[in-house]
Amino acid sequence: MDRYERMPYARCGRSGLRLSRVAFGLWHNFGTYDDFANMGRLVTRAFDLGVTHFDLANNYGPEPGSAEENFGRLLATELKGHRDELIVTTKAGHLMWPGPYGDWGSRKSLMASLDQSLRRMKLDYVDIFYSHRPDPETPLEETMGALSDIVRSGKALYVGISKYSAAQTRAAAEILARNGTPLLIHQFRYNMFTRGIEGDGLLDALEEVGAGGICFSPLAQGLLTSRYLAGIPSDSRAAKNVFLKSSDITPERRAQLLRLDAFAKARGLTLSELALKWNLRDPRVTSVLIGASRVGQLEENLGFLSKPDLSSADLEELEGLL
Ligand SMILES: NC(=O)c1ccc[n+]([C@@H]2O[C@H](COP(=O)([O-])OP(=O)(O)OC[C@H]3O[C@@H](n4cnc5c(N)ncnc54)[C@H](OP(=O)(O)O)[C@@H]3O)[C@@H](O)[C@H]2O)c1
Repeated sequence: MDRYERMPYARCGRSGLRLSRVAFGLWHNFGTYDDFANMGRLVTRAFDLGVTHFDLANNYGPEPGSAEENFGRLLATELKGHRDELIVTTKAGHLMWPGPYGDWGSRKSLMASLDQSLRRMKLDYVDIFYSHRPDPETPLEETMGALSDIVRSGKALYVGISKYSAAQTRAAAEILARNGTPLLIHQFRYNMFTRGIEGDGLLDALEEVGAGGICFSPLAQGLLTSRYLAGIPSDSRAAKNVFLKSSDITPERRAQLLRLDAFAKARGLTLSELALKWNLRDPRVTSVLIGASRVGQLEENLGFLSKPDLSSADLEELEGLL
């Protein structure tokens, strides 16, 4: 199996850990109502293509928790024997169970949530445990202290944060460093249509503190693929109208997508390949974290790895289309 020749691996910040430049997320398509055989196909194909990094959270489903349960079943079957070749992550910080302890960033919530996640996945430890979002009402020292203690307890090897601003990231990294558990990684939304981190200087902050960065929804949940070029397919995420809305696909947006698609094609790329190349143009971005509902999407998307990078003239021209 040549999986490790197919995929580049990048050092995550100043840590010793190298991550596949493409990670696979189980936010969608791994829940109670999804097809288990398809989940097996997705995860094994991703791994065969060199993806070693699988991203979960306590609440992924629906039902909340079911993505972890299903991934646990896959670890015991399709992925059996490969645990030490895999980076498995989970998170806590969004609503997971009723009452004051099933949400946000208290020590109580993070510790209880990770124990639940480990039971669902039937694991002794995860590789990376994240605070899923900053909690404005819990002292940062408490949230970061819980993450450090989790590493010391052996239930996670590394810690990460998600959706923290640049200032919050600097503060979190400082506390973690004081505790002797460096910040490994930050997970943020970033794609050609969502560029808030640029104005905030997040990548500068990550470089400063020595953490890696991984962007989620690099395909804008499917917008930056061929999915919506000719309408809204009935089996698409936009047709479900929950996280991606059919109203997001305005005539202006579709016209822009068609222009981007033509730009990509003129360079021998598909639109999704263009989007992933664009996201990885800055070396401070360790990985892109993609989703897929079928194996063909994964195979198409990973094609970008064997194609030439965008030139600075390309990037400039592209900017005009965005
Ligand atoms: N930290 C956080 O707060 C946070 C938030 C969101 C996500 N995440 C993580 O990021 C991961 C990825 O997020 P995402 O799923 O939104 O990423 P994405 O890669 O932007 O979107 C994936 C979706 O796009 C469509 N797609 C992908 N490739 C395609 C192709 N080649 N042709 C046509 N359609 C294609 C599929 O949707 P269809 O269903 O339409 O086929 C697929 O499920 C999540 O699983 C999760 O792990 C983290």
